[in-house]
Amino acid sequence: MVTMTIDILTLFPDAVSAMMSQSIIGRAQENEIVKINCRQIRDYTENRQKQVDDYPYGGGMGMVMQVQPLYDCWKSVCDEAGERVHTIYMSPQGKTFTQSDAIRLKNDYERLILVCGHYEGIDERFIELCVDEEISIGDFVLTGGEIAAMAVADAVCRLVPGVLADQSCFREESHYSGLLEYPQYSRPELFMGKRVPPVLLSGHHANIKKWRRKESLRRTLTRRPDMLEKAVLESSDLKLLEEIKSEMK
Ligand SMILES: C[S@@+](CC[C@H](N)C(=O)[O-])C[C@H]1O[C@@H](n2cnc3c(N)ncnc32)[C@H](O)[C@@H]1O
Repeated sequence: MVTMTIDILTLFPDAVSAMMSQSIIGRAQENEIVKINCRQIRDYTENRQKQVDDYPYGGGMGMVMQVQPLYDCWKSVCDEAGERVHTIYMSPQGKTFTQSDAIRLKNDYERLILVCGHYEGIDERFIELCVDEEISIGDFVLTGGEIAAMAVADAVCRLVPGVLADQSCFREESHYSGLLEYPQYSRPELFMGKRVPPVLLSGHHANIKKWRRKESLRRTLTRRPDMLEKAVLESSDLKLLEEIKSEMK
């Protein structure tokens, strides 16, 4: 049963669809756990040239995506869904996307519309009429919203039960628990003089768990101390942090 449907409104549906049909998300779509519909905004133009953009009122550089094709494309998805679907405009002016947004979107909605802008962006009236939230994937400017929409769709879909083989996969991952994940190793045991940490070969589960927690704390302390300040830590974590700090002296 499909438990998450995402409609991506874009001028490049084939490119988005090709990417979202690969690997884990592709398999989840084949298994009908999630569904990603890529909608061609251009199909909703009312002019013969199928033009979707025009010059900005007031002058200035570049082109703006017109409101009419965007609105009609959006409305056709809502009509098909039988309700107003929660709509997100991918925008460098939006709130920066985090793992907690991915969790919130997965928990709160069964269907989402992600709108990809292009050129100088989209007519403000579409945002006022149809958009519930604006999401940015970082403080930089892309040429289009497609990469951002794929990032959000991927992060949300992989949280849907059944998409990953084991639900515990993401619990220890970076950002999920408020910490960065510990380092990972696979075969061989020795590569160019570098060994896998012996504890990981010991088979001693409690020691491995402790080592991973400590390395997770070490990484977060050295790379993202801002995250550590907000993380919920147990007394055993505080002890490990003391150890790490004295090792760093
Ligand atoms: C060149 S950008 C437009 C930027 C716009 N003129 C501005 O200054 O805010 C074209 C499109 O790329 C997408 N985009 C660019 N940067 C993004 C980011 N950091 N996060 C999400 N979407 C982004 C948006 O959909 C946007 O409409």
